[in-house]
Amino acid sequence: MLQVKGLKAGYGGIPVLHGVDLEIAAGEAVAVVGANGAGKTALVRSISGLMKAIDGRVLKDGQDITGVPGHRRLEHGIAVVLENRNLFTELSVMDNLRLAQSAGRRARHDKARFTLDEVCALFPLVGERRNARVELLSGGQQQMVAIARALLLQPDLLIMDELTTGLAPKIVKEILVVLNQLRERGLSILLVEQSIAIAAEMTERAYVLSVGRVIHEVRRGEWPAMLADKTLVKAYLHG
Ligand SMILES: Nc1ncnc2c1ncn2[C@@H]1O[C@H](COP(=O)(O)OP(=O)(O)O)[C@@H](O)[C@H]1O
Ligand SMILES: [Mg+2]
Repeated sequence: MLQVKGLKAGYGGIPVLHGVDLEIAAGEAVAVVGANGAGKTALVRSISGLMKAIDGRVLKDGQDITGVPGHRRLEHGIAVVLENRNLFTELSVMDNLRLAQSAGRRARHDKARFTLDEVCALFPLVGERRNARVELLSGGQQQMVAIARALLLQPDLLIMDELTTGLAPKIVKEILVVLNQLRERGLSILLVEQSIAIAAEMTERAYVLSVGRVIHEVRRGEWPAMLADKTLVKAYLHG
């Protein structure tokens, strides 16, 4: 469903990704892991159309979307939860969700699969705080709102950049439970993580990104060996 081929991209036209290849199959959960500065966010921004490719291609369901700007990638079923979440913090939870709902309806009218009630049910905390301004919520609650909002854009590929960084373990657990439910519903997931423990728990496959290059691929069933390879873990990753 997603193919990235020889992708070069960077901030202000200076490449920080030097030819990245990756693939996600329909319904698959894949991780990109790598240390701070590896280029994970640049990769997320390139796939979601928020950063222009200098070279290489991004294909979604076989269609070349390399030149498609971010707001139009919704139509191709790509939604992203960015590191800073980009919520309208002065608006209520519900207002944030409704804005996404109408954007999702417009972009994906024939492919809608998540309703407001459903996303509130997935995250009961979001439902409970539906009338609160987002700025009054904890970081974890805001992250749940950000995921709920992304789902209302009706994606078939959900990309999340460092979802769990800085959140309390209890909240992380709650979020991972929901992500597993979403996987069971057939959503494809790209999880960008500094924590390989979380990547291993949540995905069947991962790409290790280092200084803008994929230096290793963890294939299905290789997580235990990967986690045991202390050199790899130490050299490129945070535990
Ligand atoms: N706004 C920016 N302008 C210029 N360079 C940046 C900017 N943000 C990040 N970089 C640089 O790009 C490289 C990749 O960063 P980034 O994509 O944020 O990696 P990661 O998400 O893995 O930490 C790093 O060397 C970083 O210093
Ligand atoms: Mg980042």
